[in-house]
Amino acid sequence: MARKRYAIGNWKMNSDLPDAMVLGHGVKEAIAAVNGVEVVLCPPFVWLYPLAEILRNGPKNISLGAQNMHWEEKGTFTGEVSGEMLKNIVKYVILGHSERRYYFNESDDIVYDKLVLALHYGLTPILCVGEKKKSETGDVKALLAQLNASLGELTADQVKKIVIAYEPIWAISSGDVTGKKAATGDYAGEVIKKIRDFIEENYGKTTAEAQSILYGGSVTAANIDEYMGECEIDGVLVGGASLRINEFVAICKSVGQYR
Ligand code: PGA
Repeated sequence: MARKRYAIGNWKMNSDLPDAMVLGHGVKEAIAAVNGVEVVLCPPFVWLYPLAEILRNGPKNISLGAQNMHWEEKGTFTGEVSGEMLKNIVKYVILGHSERRYYFNESDDIVYDKLVLALHYGLTPILCVGEKKKSETGDVKALLAQLNASLGELTADQVKKIVIAYEPIWAISSGDVTGKKAATGDYAGEVIKKIRDFIEENYGKTTAEAQSILYGGSVTAANIDEYMGECEIDGVLVGGASLRINEFVAICKSVGQYR
């Protein structure tokens, strides 16, 4: 069975309410006629509800994701949002993004606890992994160690439900429409193949074959075809370019086209 393909927009801490609504409406309308891609919008928490209203009765291939959630079910965690709060409003949740790991000291153990809870609530986690520095020798040991520790004790059945996003930190947020800092398609494809091999070794062939593994890091409309031309890459996690409607829609169309 062909793996699901994704175009995921991570808005990070950007947009005001009018921007969010315009983006939501714009993408929803443009995506209605696009096949072969699951589009996921991940706005800041406070815009989830208004966006859920906008997407209600919309095309089936567009849904919402949260950018994070807490690892405990509930309690005295001022400012935090739980999986249970999210479960009726989003289908996806980004976990282990490098900005969370770096600015908020999220360890692999924390990411693992969040994965367990997200799966418990029926959310599909988008697990981000990525190395700090580009390896000139193709060594992905540190990356696979991070993946291994984040997946912790999960079973193959649980791992199968996760979307993995390979996001090399050195390639994220170039803030440049040409995507100059991005990894090349070849490079991303090779690393993703190694991630898939790791999944096969540890969780079996069926899991590895079913697992959608995405690339993220300075993806733009100018470089999307490079990634989607690689058979190992099942879509993209997009930051900056997901805030520009026309560009994000072009990216979604590209992903769909390479079905
Ligand atoms: P970018 O962000 O596309 O702006 O590089 C990607 C991400 O951090 O998810």
